[in-house]
Amino acid sequence: MSGVNEIRSAFLDYFAKNGHEMVPSSPLVPRNDPTLMFTNAGMVQFKNVFTGAEKRPYDKATTAQKCVRAGGKHNDLDNVGYTARHHTFFEMMGNFSFGDYFKERAIELAWTLITKEFGVTKDRLLVTVYHDDEEAVSLWKRIAGFSDSKIIRIPTSDNFWQMGDTGPCGPCSEIFIDQGDALQGGPPGSPDEDGDRFLEFWNLVFMQYEQIEPGNRVNLPRPSIDTGMGLERMAAILQGVHSNYDTDLFRTLIEAVAHATGVAPEGAHKASHRVIADHLRASSFLVADGVLPSNEGRGYVLRRIMRRAMRHAQLLGAKDPLMYRLVPALVREMGQAYPELVRAEPLITETLKLEETRFRKTLERGLLILDEETRHLTQGQNLSGDTAFTLYDTFGFPLDLTQDALKARGIGVDTDTFKAAMERQREKARAAWSGSGEAATETVWFGIKDRVGATEFLGYDTEAAEGFVTALLRDGQEVAELKAGETGLVVLNQTPFYAESGGQVGDSGVMQFDDLRVRVTATEKKLGDLFVHHVRVEEGTLKAGQTLELLVDHGRRSAVRANHSATHLLHEALRQVLGDHVAQKGSLVSADRLRFDFSHPKPISDEELARVEDIANRVALRNEPVVTKLMGVDEAIESGARALFGEKYGEEVRVVSMGTVEGRNTPFSIELCGGTHVSRTGDIGVVTIVGEAAVAAGVRRLEAMTGDGARRHLQAESRKLREIAGLLKIPADEATERLASLLEDRRKLERDLQEARRKLAMGGGSSESDPVREVGGIKLMARAVTGVEMKDLKALADEGKKRLGSGVVAIIGVAEDGKAGIVVGVTDDLTDKVDAVALVRAGSAVMGGKGGGGRRDMAQAGGPDGAAAEAALDAVEAALAAL
Ligand code: SER
Repeated sequence: MSGVNEIRSAFLDYFAKNGHEMVPSSPLVPRNDPTLMFTNAGMVQFKNVFTGAEKRPYDKATTAQKCVRAGGKHNDLDNVGYTARHHTFFEMMGNFSFGDYFKERAIELAWTLITKEFGVTKDRLLVTVYHDDEEAVSLWKRIAGFSDSKIIRIPTSDNFWQMGDTGPCGPCSEIFIDQGDALQGGPPGSPDEDGDRFLEFWNLVFMQYEQIEPGNRVNLPRPSIDTGMGLERMAAILQGVHSNYDTDLFRTLIEAVAHATGVAPEGAHKASHRVIADHLRASSFLVADGVLPSNEGRGYVLRRIMRRAMRHAQLLGAKDPLMYRLVPALVREMGQAYPELVRAEPLITETLKLEETRFRKTLERGLLILDEETRHLTQGQNLSGDTAFTLYDTFGFPLDLTQDALKARGIGVDTDTFKAAMERQREKARAAWSGSGEAATETVWFGIKDRVGATEFLGYDTEAAEGFVTALLRDGQEVAELKAGETGLVVLNQTPFYAESGGQVGDSGVMQFDDLRVRVTATEKKLGDLFVHHVRVEEGTLKAGQTLELLVDHGRRSAVRANHSATHLLHEALRQVLGDHVAQKGSLVSADRLRFDFSHPKPISDEELARVEDIANRVALRNEPVVTKLMGVDEAIESGARALFGEKYGEEVRVVSMGTVEGRNTPFSIELCGGTHVSRTGDIGVVTIVGEAAVAAGVRRLEAMTGDGARRHLQAESRKLREIAGLLKIPADEATERLASLLEDRRKLERDLQEARRKLAMGGGSSESDPVREVGGIKLMARAVTGVEMKDLKALADEGKKRLGSGVVAIIGVAEDGKAGIVVGVTDDLTDKVDAVALVRAGSAVMGGKGGGGRRDMAQAGGPDGAAAEAALDAVEAALAAL
């Protein structure tokens, strides 16, 4: 029972047997606490259960919790590697009572586990209590049979546990082991308590209060219990070793380091081995929980941990990236207890490899500079902050890496001048920015950005989180609060809301806390990485500084995700069908549809469109994974990822690959993309193209829908088809043919109808009834007709000319609205003498028309007064007579 994995199970089983719910570890990035950088204790996931804000179906729980202490209140990074027991990542075993049992049962349970189950003898154990906690003193006496000398009263904050500046807290009692006088050190509370002899391994916190804010502490609804046992320490005790790094788990990791570098684990390089083993765990678990190296916030803490390890790899003489080669050993040791490690193994490997490959490019040169700059320095002296800043700025050395590198020689860093150099650089960047066009008009954001820094985006991994309000604006001015009914802008320290970028629309949703309800209508970015939420307060008052529960509209986000992933599939499908010249020219991804603009010189045929749609849907249907990796831009482009030409990318980019090429082990699509995506292509559902058009010379636009939107679109289309078939009284699949023949019939009928009307207008088929008058030896056929379209008047005139053989034809058509048109035709033999234009003008004038035009053989005009048609014909006759 002495291996780390067995001790973990024994602890959990023991408490499960005693009525505790076995609860999995929560992620390292706390979802329920915006004040914490990382989960730093087992109780973090239960914080709101202690205060009564959250209810769970159990009142006793036990966990093995992943913890990182490398930033914020509990920061262990500096010591790690140089002591027997400090870690950045560690596992905290705990049992919790939420208003069920309190001190007595907690002490009983702990005592039985240590002495009976784990078999640690009583005479090696001792405890501390908070100085005025008489109850705890008497319980330890009764349950453990301790004398006063074994119960040490501590008056300091060491025995009053607080998660952070706020949150549940209470006096605590810590259990120690005396590892014997072969080791240096005194008992807790003594001047040399920091030695290795007396080791604290279990902290029992008697949770009684909640710290609301500094100076304001209230009672918890019911006294509760939170205990935390360092698994690594317990393992060292049970395995009879004095350093956590000598336990089975760490020995295995350190052996992997030794094997990969050929450097013995003990001796001069002992600390480096330990740093690497420890940091490998922290880095891998952080990546598995969605943190990726960056220059801000959590990502920067991860980067600092990674780079610190990478410098130690270099100290061990590693010529190539080392860390990623250790991942299999870690996964073997811890993958069973933490399956997320197995799932994320490829991402962890890639991320470590990339970071180390890139960092090694500058590490060696930076170290040379560091050597030169410190050659003349001796113990107790400081490296100038400006040099430390150059190492930071140019060579990517986090400050603590420089400090760590000088630690062994007792040399420090002048951190004040370092900070001043940082500040100067920020000022410079700001000045450069405020001089640049559009951004300068929004000066309010510069002050906010300087004060609160970049917003941390949590939305790749979660749609719900907590955050606190770092700035509140109304009408462009910072304000302290927004009241119900008001609209404004909100900046938070962290957010799951995606801000509009890369064509993807920003998220909407809700922010809430108790009776406060705030609607988020849009999210955008200012100054690169400040996330700004557009809100309307629906109920309550929103205040700067307050904590909020943040909930992204899940349905909308899912639809946007599906549309974004479908855009990638269509992009690749278009290239396959139309050719390699297809390049993205723009895109819009919203919840109800996607739009994709791309270069292509001509319209796309229906058959091509169908093929594009088929290809995209085939990948969707295969339900293949969508994988996101972080890469350097160059590597990403080398890997074949599609990038937008002319787009500026950061140092590192997200690379999204989707599906596989059939029969080959390469992704169907790889693109640089900061958007949110489905986790498997099947989540896209169906992809349907709903439009194709030109937007500019050489640029086409495709519009498409996915998932439920596509389904509803197709449903509406087929309903329309059924309606059409219903009207035609035939099955739907015959509709096209039937419609075509109906249209043909109609065209024929129209032709026949025209013909019939013309005939009717000309008095049927015979010429006997033609109204022909003789005017000065010229035959004049003059006629007023109705029911003939104006455009057909000429045809009637032609017909009339034919019937006369030689003569003049004047036809007036009177429309339903009373307006008239007049046409005059003159047979060719008479055009020398008679001008149709003159005659038509004479007729038209009588009907109130002006002008008229044409040629000598055929002219036409109009007139508003059709009632004067007969008089107009007389006028034509008179004009002819006058020639
Ligand atoms: N919260 C306490 C600690 O972290 C006990 O779990 O030590």
